[in-house]
Amino acid sequence: MKIAHFSRWGFLMAAAGSAVGLGNIWKFPYITGEYGGGAFVLVYLLTVAVVGFSVMIAEMLIGYLGRRDGVGAFEELAPRHKERWKYAGFMGLSGTLVMFYYSVVIGWIFYYITLSFGTLPASIPEAEGIYNTLMTQGLGTQIFFHTLAFIIITAVLVRGIKGGIEKFNLILMPALMMIIAGMLIYAMNLESFTKALSYMFVPDWSKLTSEAFAVAVGHAFFTLSLGMGAIMIYSASLAKDSNIVRASLFVIATDTLIALAAGLVLFTFLFQYGAEPAKGPGLVFISLPSVFHAMGLVGNVLAVLFFVALAFAGLTSSVSLVEPMVQYLIDRWNMSRVKAAVSMGVFFYVFGIVAILSLYSGTAEYFTWGGKSFFDWSDYMTSNVFLPLAGLVMAIFVGHVIEKERVAAVLQEHMGWFYPIWRFSVRYIAPVALFFVMLNLIGVIEF
Ligand code: TRP
Repeated sequence: MKIAHFSRWGFLMAAAGSAVGLGNIWKFPYITGEYGGGAFVLVYLLTVAVVGFSVMIAEMLIGYLGRRDGVGAFEELAPRHKERWKYAGFMGLSGTLVMFYYSVVIGWIFYYITLSFGTLPASIPEAEGIYNTLMTQGLGTQIFFHTLAFIIITAVLVRGIKGGIEKFNLILMPALMMIIAGMLIYAMNLESFTKALSYMFVPDWSKLTSEAFAVAVGHAFFTLSLGMGAIMIYSASLAKDSNIVRASLFVIATDTLIALAAGLVLFTFLFQYGAEPAKGPGLVFISLPSVFHAMGLVGNVLAVLFFVALAFAGLTSSVSLVEPMVQYLIDRWNMSRVKAAVSMGVFFYVFGIVAILSLYSGTAEYFTWGGKSFFDWSDYMTSNVFLPLAGLVMAIFVGHVIEKERVAAVLQEHMGWFYPIWRFSVRYIAPVALFFVMLNLIGVIEF
């Protein structure tokens, strides 16, 4: 199998592009708002540092040593029972299922970019009206913008690692960082910035319920793109002699900084104009647009920039969610890249339409089971089941199955004294944490 190599920056931008996504700019601020701020943020940061970092290295290592599609990498690295470990690799292909709703949300963002050029909603109820109308009645609008997302993502995947994924990330990621940095500087000059700072960083432990705790840990994994083969498949294209410890640090630092910056910007704006921080998923689509309206013309400029940044974040992550399946089809089914990318594109496109129908007032009842729409199920299953489960299996695989010497040969030199600590974390802390969090997230246990 031939796998093209990323350039050094190309890899860092692609891996950071995967990690920085809707999770950072859309989800992180609203769950922080829902679960009460500071304490939630601290649990999240702690998980990223302790568990996220060790699993990130583990996942990069599987890709880097395996040098092939996710399923092949497990087969290649398992010292015995190769046929069984192959199934662990299949779990890493579940990213495409995230796309069922992810692409739809990118569609909404495109729609909000177009709105930002005109008159923004003047009040929260008006903004709510626009959002709800889009969800429940805007069938054509949603399908149109979902189609646009599908075309862009598929076009990038068709062009492959070098000409597609690397190039796309090398352009979009720096642009995204500049927009967020610019908005942060703007927010710093507003009076409410200090309020946003204390909201996000001064913990109120009484607000930390067990659910908040599990959600914080779960989000730490989601935002780092762990457990779904994305980081793994990119690492299969890392040049030999790369330092995956340093690369992990870079990706984690970038992801965390962008999430924190996005949170600070949003909360500053919300506090400055008296909007509620705990607004749920509608935070950036309801509260924020009315805040932008209150800012006048500057608000329109900020709105366009904000939604463009959000779209960029979503698109670069999307590419990484589908690439594992594309590479799998190329390697295992001998498909051409074009055919593989287009089939996977059509696959998530069609289910994306089902997700749209599951929100649309005329058809919602046919696509809702157990009180959850198909849209919600796709989020629920991927974030709460597949992702922690695959993360758990990866940690066990690297910690207990791959020969010690093989792991040490790559990592020890780059890690030094930290190596035993990392190993302990991958072998014990990460699996135990993931196991309990998963049980909590799917409602089996409470703690
Ligand atoms: N990390 C992305 C975000 O924060 C989502 C994502 C992209 C992802 N690739 C992934 C999540 C792979 C899990 C696995 O939005």
